[in-house]
Amino acid sequence: MASPRSIVVLTGAGISAESGLATFRGPDGLWEGHHVEQVCTPQALARDPATVHRFYDARRAALSQVEPNAAHRALARLDAEWPGDLVIVTQNVDDLHERAGARRLIHMHGELLSALCASCGAREPWAGQLDPGMPCPACDAPALRPDIVFFGEMPYAMDRIEGAIAAADLFVSIGTSGAVYPAAGFVQTARYAGGRTLELNLEPSAGSALFDESRLGPASLLVPAWVEETLAVAGPNPAAAR
Ligand code: OAD
Repeated sequence: MASPRSIVVLTGAGISAESGLATFRGPDGLWEGHHVEQVCTPQALARDPATVHRFYDARRAALSQVEPNAAHRALARLDAEWPGDLVIVTQNVDDLHERAGARRLIHMHGELLSALCASCGAREPWAGQLDPGMPCPACDAPALRPDIVFFGEMPYAMDRIEGAIAAADLFVSIGTSGAVYPAAGFVQTARYAGGRTLELNLEPSAGSALFDESRLGPASLLVPAWVEETLAVAGPNPAAAR
């Protein structure tokens, strides 16, 4: 194919699986022993804030036990060397893309290493424990909560993401089951806009048939191979050589 100029990559939990972080929809349907609705809804936070905070405190603490894998590193290489437009949209709340070196990155579902004030909307970098009723550093309201987009809440940066997909020549979905909207609908947006669509996943996702091409296997193998192929088609990037 002709070299694409503009690429949007969507990643999900599957890209972090080989780093040792659990995916959401495992065979038992549980995420680290919980149903997603018990820890990932505004209702759960209102009903049982201690459980929700404890859950995300544990996920935040677990980040120090894991490292980016070859798939994260390959996308960081693409970010550094791709001469055209690129947006890496991740549904993941871990920090493995940025630790690998990715810069053109959007966390659409929030970040573990951030706290959100439910009162004033401030987002604060947060590395430690987060207890219910902690005061917001910006407005002092006792309203800090995990900066996670719960079910029923609007993901971050949707205008930017939809705009980038509509303008993209190539949309690539990596390690996501395609079960959660709006991210599950991005492949349709890309198709309607005339972009090519590629899926890299361990197994066919819910929307697999909508992709022009689907490659099945572990992200640590598929993603480096795809990045190599993509950069080879693009030719040498004078900026990367400097
Ligand atoms: P899921 O757990 O639903 O899907 C993970 C996908 O990754 C599955 O299709 C697996 O087959 C695939 N997979 C597993 N290991 C892989 C590997 N080594 N290489 C490649 N693929 C692999 O996770 P998401 O689709 O990311 O929302 O879930 C979407 C959202 O649901 C999450 O962002 C989360 C959750 O509710 C929030 O936290 C707000």
